[in-house]
Amino acid sequence: MTILHIDTSISGANSASRQLTESIVDKLQTTGEGGEVIYRDLVANPLPHLTFDAFADTSTLNQFLAADTIVIGAPMYNFTVPTQLKAWIDRVAIAGTTFRYTENGPEGLMGGKRVIIALARGGFYNDGSPAAGFEFAERYLKAVFNFIGIEPEFVAADGLAVSPEQRETSIKQALGETVRLAA
Ligand SMILES: Cc1cc2nc3c(=O)[nH]c(=O)nc-3n(C[C@H](O)[C@H](O)[C@H](O)COP(=O)(O)O)c2cc1C
Repeated sequence: MTILHIDTSISGANSASRQLTESIVDKLQTTGEGGEVIYRDLVANPLPHLTFDAFADTSTLNQFLAADTIVIGAPMYNFTVPTQLKAWIDRVAIAGTTFRYTENGPEGLMGGKRVIIALARGGFYNDGSPAAGFEFAERYLKAVFNFIGIEPEFVAADGLAVSPEQRETSIKQALGETVRLAA
């Protein structure tokens, strides 16, 4: 099994999403789902914004195709995913390879891969809450992975900007959930 581990937080050692992805990958390794781990830090080594010429370089796509499990750290920035992660998605959502258009509509071709996403958000965006309509990170990631045939699993640390106590509680709770995800 090959795990592709991707981090996208700009916060380095203080990052909650980085803590969570590390924990998820560790747990996967101990439950036998592990094997080779390929690590990509899209902040230390960012992909450029998409251009037509960029499609000629299929290395990111091929790395994704070769992975069985993909673990992604996704902090919420300005209500959605970091541009570093969007640049990666732009290279793996490829018509004819990861999805195709059919007479019956689009069809995802990546079924069988496991995608686990560690979300870290400063606020709370629960259904029915005042900010729910501002949530475009989890919703977007679910939509784009569904589109290519994958149902992503999420673990979320929320309310991280509310107070230091809330931050500690939320990270602890999310780290606990990584055990369930790796089971
Ligand atoms: C540039 C920037 C933009 C942010 N925008 C939002 C936002 O729109 N909504 C929110 O709830 N939190 C926002 N936050 C807070 C982060 O989601 C929060 O700090 C989270 O912990 C980031 O993940 P990380 O700890 O892995 O870096 C923002 C943080 C930064 C640095």
